[in-house]
Amino acid sequence: MSECEGTYRTTAEFYDILQAERDSRLVARLYGARVAAARGAVVDVGAGSGAVSFLALTASGVPVHAVEPSAVMRSLLLTRLARCGADRRARVTVHPGTLPEADITAGEAELVVCHNVVPTLDGAARRALWEAAARVLGPGGLLLMDRPRARAPREAEVTAFTPVRVGADTYEGEVRETACAEGAELAFTYTVRRGERVVRRRGERFLTRMLPLEALAEELGECGLRWEETGERVLVARRAGAG
Ligand SMILES: C[S@@+](CC[C@H](N)C(=O)[O-])C[C@H]1O[C@@H](n2cnc3c(N)ncnc32)[C@H](O)[C@@H]1O
Repeated sequence: MSECEGTYRTTAEFYDILQAERDSRLVARLYGARVAAARGAVVDVGAGSGAVSFLALTASGVPVHAVEPSAVMRSLLLTRLARCGADRRARVTVHPGTLPEADITAGEAELVVCHNVVPTLDGAARRALWEAAARVLGPGGLLLMDRPRARAPREAEVTAFTPVRVGADTYEGEVRETACAEGAELAFTYTVRRGERVVRRRGERFLTRMLPLEALAEELGECGLRWEETGERVLVARRAGAG
């Protein structure tokens, strides 16, 4: 099983406090209509703390598979599941590895959603993901993802999260994106302040790959997933075999 014990170790602590609210609004906007209309299982690849899985649990009545290799990120997900009610919890299976390793019945899924995960994968991991997605999707089933960046930024780009107050402290975070040989490096910095004083500061870096649409569509096509132009921000690929 591909447990990644190291990655997200720093980020996990700050993930939901800084990002969960914004992310759940975003995933509802991007995937909500298709998830609500699903009649077959929804697979959430790189589930993290479960933004897409919880969308599926609330907007649909279908089985949900949350696939998450990082133990610290799974902890966030399972803590949320512990509080969500037994009936909803009974509908979601948590898979502690990658999609190729997950025990999901072939053809069971109507949707495989990869939100905010694909650019972090290298070519071999992407290929394994597309093959596994094509296996678990039923005929006509859809692979959905947020469109990866095609080009690295020319200059460093810094994005700040909205600060969040927790008791006497304010939690802040920013991500600095800079071009590097493989694509772009994302350097996250998390700061906890009490008044003017910095109580803690932590950082974690991630490598992301640039994936132009044509190259991605070709990769998907080689694995039986046909890219569809929808004009949406979401990238849609249909499992070949039915319309
Ligand atoms: C940036 S987080 C996004 C989490 C969640 N999808 C969200 O939008 O909040 C990326 C997640 O993908 C997971 N991940 C990394 N490699 C993966 C792989 N090969 N298969 C599935 N998930 C993976 C990481 O552990 C991490 O939890």
